[in-house]
Amino acid sequence: MSSNPGHTPRTPDEITVGPLDLAARVDEALAVQALAFGLTDEEIDVRHHIVLRHLGVPGARALGATTAENRLVGFVYGLPNDRAHWWSTVVQPYLRRLGNDEWLDDSFVITELHVHPRHQNRGIGRALITGLTDAAPQPRSILSAIDRDSPARGLYASLGYRDLARQIAFPGAPLPYAVMGATLPLRGPRSHRA
Ligand SMILES: CC(C)(COP(=O)(O)OP(=O)(O)OC[C@H]1O[C@@H](n2cnc3c(N)ncnc32)[C@H](O)[C@@H]1OP(=O)(O)O)[C@@H](O)C(=O)NCCC(=O)NCCS
Repeated sequence: MSSNPGHTPRTPDEITVGPLDLAARVDEALAVQALAFGLTDEEIDVRHHIVLRHLGVPGARALGATTAENRLVGFVYGLPNDRAHWWSTVVQPYLRRLGNDEWLDDSFVITELHVHPRHQNRGIGRALITGLTDAAPQPRSILSAIDRDSPARGLYASLGYRDLARQIAFPGAPLPYAVMGATLPLRGPRSHRA
């Protein structure tokens, strides 16, 4: 692999990371999420409505990773945090207990990040989240991830996200989540890639 200093995305040549009209391609995006993360048909229906609602929030943005044939193989979207939003109301008491409550202000929330399993581990997830946060006017970013060792947690940690609270119980979720936060811009790729 060639050296890749700084913040240059390491995506494969045939994959393009760029702005995504997520409202128009929500079914494709949820199909990627279903493969990457595992979603039932019922969950896909629920997510469909949630994504469209999120996209109505001022400042909500999405990026997609597409093949040369314009097939979507990854996406990320997020929005400025609002303490009144459901996600924020769930995590706030956990953050407050650890003195991390101020992370909910002036923060860009990464709501979803998913890469098709066949295209994982090639730098696409890193390019998507870095591209989205690089364009955020907020000085920091927060997100939640299932609280276990996973490629997602590994990627977030390597980008500079640290744990702000752990073992968070979201209503209806079978597994506990961790909330992580990073100051922006995110860290570039680690030197061992060179
Ligand atoms: C998380 C996800 C989006 C990452 O996308 P990706 O394109 O595979 O990620 P990249 O190739 O850009 O980055 C790979 C990084 O993931 C991390 N990673 C990969 N496999 C890992 C593992 N088994 N354990 C820990 N970290 C791992 C590493 O930090 C790795 O970077 P490195 O190669 O410098 O060590 C992808 O794995 C995915 O879609 N997972 C399923 C859905 C999901 O969990 N989404 C996040 C919800 S919070």
